[in-house]
Amino acid sequence: MEKGSPHVIVAIDGPAGSGKSSTAREVARRTNSLYIDTGAMYRAVALFCVESGLDPRSDQLGSQLRDVVIRLDPSESGIVVYLNDIDVSEKIRDSRVSALSSEVSKNADVRDKMVLLQRQMAKKCVENGGSVVMEGRDIGTVVFPNAEFKFFLVADPKVRAKRRADQMREKGFRADEDKLYQEIVDRDRRDESRELSPLRKAEFAIEIDTTGLSFEEQVENIIHVINGNG
Ligand code: DC
Repeated sequence: MEKGSPHVIVAIDGPAGSGKSSTAREVARRTNSLYIDTGAMYRAVALFCVESGLDPRSDQLGSQLRDVVIRLDPSESGIVVYLNDIDVSEKIRDSRVSALSSEVSKNADVRDKMVLLQRQMAKKCVENGGSVVMEGRDIGTVVFPNAEFKFFLVADPKVRAKRRADQMREKGFRADEDKLYQEIVDRDRRDESRELSPLRKAEFAIEIDTTGLSFEEQVENIIHVINGNG
């Protein structure tokens, strides 16, 4: 945050590919805040299911996750995700893990565990004098409904699929835009229609449609509001 400003929590929610991860990371960097990517946490749980052969729909999932430790460490490029002390930052971006992450996120025990962890991480940061930029699907509605700033990012699904494809190509992966589009639409439907903490705009959240915005404009829109000029 700006020098002398109070320590705050900024909640950024929105669907996959709306630009929220890259935007939140950059807003955190420019405001000296801790960046917390909550989607990465659900992805780590999904990866744990894949690697341990667990059924993400099982009623037992909560107890099976009891000893699982998920940790997010800030890094130069944003964040490093650890699952039981192993760096899984790359593995959790796999498309099978992406699809499964929205399955595991329907589980009440998983959500309770993640929300608790998210609140603990933010509390520790704020108590140490820092600010937090947390992004996900339910940050403004459930995790921090009283966050000082709440944003809801949206964008046309076709544009979101193209952004995902560009990101993958940049990293040297092949990308099928039609398939990505279908995955995004399916995941939106699952995230919006689930019973627990469905994806929706929080009360008093500022909606930003990023369809026609450049990355710089997205970031600036948010910083402008945080700095009291919104
Ligand atoms: O933001 P992402 O695509 O990395 O999120 C992966 C999945 O995790 C997404 O399908 C929905 C779920 N999720 C959630 O339910 N709640 C959050 N706060 C963040 C993500």
